[in-house]
Amino acid sequence: MQSQLLRLTVLLTFILPNLQNLSAKELENPRAITVIGTGYVGLVLGSCLAEIGHQVTCCDVDSRKISSLERGEIPIYEEGLEDLVHNNTIKNRLFFTTSLKNAVLESDIIFITVGTPETLSGEANLDYVFSAAQLIGENLNRTKTVFVKSTVPMGTIIKIKEVIQAHNSANVPFSIGYAPEFLREGTSVSDFMHPDRVVIGVENTETSQLFTEIVQPILDDGAKILTTSIASAEMIKYASNSFLAVKISFINEIADFCEKIGADVEEVALGMGLDKRIGQSFLKPGPGYGGSCFPKDTLAFLKSADKNSIHLSIIDAAVQSNNTRCEKILTRMEKTLGTFQGKKIAVLGLAFKENTDDVRESPSLKIIDYLVQKKAYVKSYDPIATQNALKFYPELNIARTLYEAFEDCDAIIVATPWNLFTQIDWQIVKQICRGSFVFDTRNILCPMEVKNAGFSYMGIGKKPLME
Ligand SMILES: NC(=O)c1ccc[n+]([C@@H]2O[C@H](COP(=O)([O-])OP(=O)(O)OC[C@H]3O[C@@H](n4cnc5c(N)ncnc54)[C@H](O)[C@@H]3O)[C@@H](O)[C@H]2O)c1
Repeated sequence: MQSQLLRLTVLLTFILPNLQNLSAKELENPRAITVIGTGYVGLVLGSCLAEIGHQVTCCDVDSRKISSLERGEIPIYEEGLEDLVHNNTIKNRLFFTTSLKNAVLESDIIFITVGTPETLSGEANLDYVFSAAQLIGENLNRTKTVFVKSTVPMGTIIKIKEVIQAHNSANVPFSIGYAPEFLREGTSVSDFMHPDRVVIGVENTETSQLFTEIVQPILDDGAKILTTSIASAEMIKYASNSFLAVKISFINEIADFCEKIGADVEEVALGMGLDKRIGQSFLKPGPGYGGSCFPKDTLAFLKSADKNSIHLSIIDAAVQSNNTRCEKILTRMEKTLGTFQGKKIAVLGLAFKENTDDVRESPSLKIIDYLVQKKAYVKSYDPIATQNALKFYPELNIARTLYEAFEDCDAIIVATPWNLFTQIDWQIVKQICRGSFVFDTRNILCPMEVKNAGFSYMGIGKKPLME
């Protein structure tokens, strides 16, 4: 019930008004577009391109994913996405297929949005992008333009072009562009429709003009488009993600210092962020960055720089800081609690951030891992991400409701900043749980409210409030 309310609030506040703005616009020249890879990026891209008027076919090698989409079931959780997929499927503007070959043969514009996960050595695994490139090359039946959206290291787009050409036996002309994706999971539909900027890396002006024409309704809404060389676009994507990762690690370390000397990191972040040169965003301390992008992209960027004999020492330091982040804050909690051994801990949140079901590299799972190693008994709750978490961590002990998680627990850890957790009635919780410790790793609770209910409150980078 609470999660439905949360979804409805986000839908009414952020998604629907934005979609209504866009549906009023008509595309002058709708195109037949194929999107290869139907994950978080591909499905959002495909359904948003359909929403602005294009004829889109999303294809994937994962037949279960495609079958569920054909049945109208959305395999990922993103606000507004379900409506977008349904509306555009009904309007015959959005199709799903596992027949990659046909999807490539039938369109003139192809987007590559397959995954580029981390290899064991920390580099980006490019097998999936090269396999998509080979398929395109083998099926170049007429002139086509390929736009890559997958995040790839410096120099990859030219290699993708070479792979396509190596399989282009009829020597059909084609062009390539790199359109890095900047959407944030949790708000990706809104981010796609209202981006801060759109970047397109190209080899010629025709390709950038075509891209501009495809996304024109989004640009009409005020977004800036920046056309660059392919190398610059590749660099912009990794440099942007790494910069944000650095900002997070930076404020996390400042938070540690604040705790030591009795300053409040939220006041500090506000004071810093009011300076326009610094800005407010990404100055929230917590258990470290996670998700499917920052951890792998920072590592891949370091590896790519290494190969070019460049040492990105600032990014390296941010990665090191992030690697030890969870352990650092858990050690502090353990000191307060005496020991984790044998304690019952409620961990609130499994997703790597709010409003998503994505648990890849989630700090919450790292926290649970640590607690289990320390022989604590963990019960967790997440409004959306449970099924995905169970795929990574089948032995997780999951509460069916939020309040069930508190039953007989000795301590509570807020691990994901779901808005739902800000609405907890701490007076009720006090009656259900055994202990009196609340660790808010996201600083989302009202410390006084928690304390007044009889708990000791510990946030990040601020003085604890003891009961
Ligand atoms: N998730 C994000 O927030 C985000 C944001 C910006 C950029 N990116 C980048 O976009 C890319 C995709 O990320 P994602 O999160 O959507 O990944 P994902 O894992 O959710 O989806 C990738 C999809 O590609 C499919 N696939 C793999 N090989 C294929 C092939 N040869 N042909 C067709 N389909 C194939 C997989 O089955 C999967 O469904 C990555 O490079 C990522 O770094 C992701």
